[in-house]
Amino acid sequence: MNKARILVTGGTGYIGSHTTVELINAGYDVVIIDNLSNSNREVLDGIEAITGVRPAFVEADCTDAAALRKLFEDYPGIKGIINFAASKAVGESVQKPILYYRNNLNTLMNLLELMPEFGVKGFVFSSSCTVYGEPDVNPVTEASPIKQATSPYGNTKQISEEVISDFVRSGAPISSIILRYFNPVGAHPSALIGELPNGVPQNLIPYLTQTAIGIRKELSVFGDDYNTPDGSCIRDFINVVDLAKAHVIAVERLIEDKTETPIEIFNLGTGNGVSVLELINTFESATGVKVPHKIVGRREGDIEKVWANPQRANEVLGWKAETPLADTMKSAWKWQLALRERGIM
Ligand code: UD1
Repeated sequence: MNKARILVTGGTGYIGSHTTVELINAGYDVVIIDNLSNSNREVLDGIEAITGVRPAFVEADCTDAAALRKLFEDYPGIKGIINFAASKAVGESVQKPILYYRNNLNTLMNLLELMPEFGVKGFVFSSSCTVYGEPDVNPVTEASPIKQATSPYGNTKQISEEVISDFVRSGAPISSIILRYFNPVGAHPSALIGELPNGVPQNLIPYLTQTAIGIRKELSVFGDDYNTPDGSCIRDFINVVDLAKAHVIAVERLIEDKTETPIEIFNLGTGNGVSVLELINTFESATGVKVPHKIVGRREGDIEKVWANPQRANEVLGWKAETPLADTMKSAWKWQLALRERGIM
């Protein structure tokens, strides 16, 4: 028998698709809404091939309140929402700030506004470690200070957290778990779903795997003069399947009314800081494939170092990032090879 019905916005995207798989595996009835702006329908085939279940799919934009209302009418009894639908490219957000504020904030406000009307209680929000800016101290805890955002994208995450908290404080009959992701990487071990960026990748891992397979000539490492042991930036790279599993726990906690406060915030990271150069080494030794790379100047807006203290998620959610980084790198490579085999890239 199916557990509760869950709405996953942005469910054909990178993190959304991996979370949908884990939700279905845990017995949930998933409805996806996605406008396919940064994904495609074939992702549904991947989800079905892994789980044996094809989730319900509505192609619509979450900024369209009428379309959302129709979804809630067509799929009654939704108990929880996991909101991935958002624009997420830092650089693009500087060029197109209104697009970012409109997409990310209107989506959020439409969903929140409809929740009480349709009796939806639980809201899981995809936030980011970007809210900590350049931290004074690492690892960061959930109590670390929120810093001035360095991009409109980052600002939408900060504002979204405030909108959720103001709404809950107003007495709205909902509760929310805000998940602050560090750097999600890798792909499902089946290589049936993974990250599929449009055009030239901006993020490290897709650029790295595309370089390893020969689509890109070489990977640029943005800066080796940072105040870190090898001079390159440090991040907390978290396996996307591990990350997806945290969402299942979070949504269950909301549905079962187990939260200690109406809003809970959790860092989702491994707790290990790994430099860009270390990551390249890990990829090379895990896969045996060389990644041609060169050091170039710093990228504007980059944080020098940030990694998580995930203790709160470990203890309160009973969740832990478990996959070794080498295995995550192997999964990213297997995914890149699968894309080639399928003639996609
Ligand atoms: C950024 C955002 C994060 C967002 C994520 C996904 C900030 C501070 N962080 O993470 O909130 O969720 O994008 O879009 O806004 N690098 C290279 N060469 C490359 C690409 C990247 O050296 O070709 C380096 C970067 O300088 C950085 C690291 O790799 O040090 C990770 O970069 P990236 O994957 O783009 O993620 P973040 O910038 O950490």
